[in-house]
Amino acid sequence: MRDFNEFTATLAVLERNAKCRDERLRQIMTSVVTHLHAIVREVEPTFEEWAFAIDFLTRTGQICNDKRQEFILLSDTLGVSMLVDAINHRRNSAATESTVLGPFHVSGAPHLQMGDSISRDGMGEPLYTSGKVADESGTPIGGALLDVWQTSHDGFYDVQDSRQPAMNLRGRFTTGADGRYWFRSVKPSSYPIPSDGTVGSMLAALGRHPMRPAHVHFIITAPGYQPVTTHVFVEGDPYLESDAVFGVKESLIVPFVRRDDASWAGRIGLGNPFYTAEYDFVLARTAPPGEHLVSMTEEIEEG
Ligand SMILES: [Fe+2]
Repeated sequence: MRDFNEFTATLAVLERNAKCRDERLRQIMTSVVTHLHAIVREVEPTFEEWAFAIDFLTRTGQICNDKRQEFILLSDTLGVSMLVDAINHRRNSAATESTVLGPFHVSGAPHLQMGDSISRDGMGEPLYTSGKVADESGTPIGGALLDVWQTSHDGFYDVQDSRQPAMNLRGRFTTGADGRYWFRSVKPSSYPIPSDGTVGSMLAALGRHPMRPAHVHFIITAPGYQPVTTHVFVEGDPYLESDAVFGVKESLIVPFVRRDDASWAGRIGLGNPFYTAEYDFVLARTAPPGEHLVSMTEEIEEG
C-alpha cells in the first residue's frame, strides 16, 4: 500500500507490523495502533495539540529519576494502574484485596524485629499496628515477610523529604509460627501526590485535587502463597471518596483508634496518647505444580 491516507492509515501500519514473530507483542501493538488511531480520528487534534501531547510525555519522562516516577503517577491518576490490578486479581477468593504499589516503594528496607519502630525520627502521633497473616481457612502463616512503608505525620515519604533520615518509616518484618505481626510507627497523614510535574499540571487543568487518603503500604509475601501489594487506609479520612489514584477499597479501611492509656502505652513502648490499628491479612495459596495439568486431563477425559 502506497497511498497512506486518513482511511488506509490503520491497516497500513497493522500490515507492516504483521510479520512480528512475537505473538503477544503483535497483539499488543495491534491494539495500541488501532486505539491510538481511533483517538486521533475522534479528537482530530491540531498540530499544536499533537505537539503539546509529545511535549507532555517528554517532560513526564524527563522528571523521572531513581526517586521520582512520574509515569507511574500518570498511570495511577488515569486509573490505569488500578485497572491492571483489577484484571490481574479477578480470582474469586477471600484473600486480602490489593491496591496500587505507588511510586514510593524502596527495596532493601531494614529487616526489624516484631515490636520495633519504623520511625527513625520519632516525629508524629505514636501508632501501634498489629494483626496476623493467615491463609483462607484462618491458619496462621509463619515466615510471611511484611514490607511496610508510610508517610510521615505531615504527609511526606522519606525519599521526598530531606528533613527525614533515610529509610524513615520503612521496615520489613517476618512472622513467627503464630502468623502475628506488630510494630510501632506514627499515624500517617493524607498527602498530595507530587504535583510540581506534568501530572500535577494535568490534575489542575482537569479541576482535580492531588490528595490521597492516609494509609500504610504493605507488600506481603510467603512461600507457597500469592503475594499481595496493598494499603491499610485510615477510617474517617476526608479523601477516601476521592483518592487521586482510585486506590481505595472498602475492605482495606480500618479504624485508627485514639487511646489514652499510660500503662498500655508503657507496655508497648509508646508515648501516651497513641493510636492503634489492627488488620488481618489473608493470602491465597499459589496453585500447586501440576494442578493445571490435572484440570486439562479432566477436560480431555470429559471431552
Ligand atoms: Fe502512599
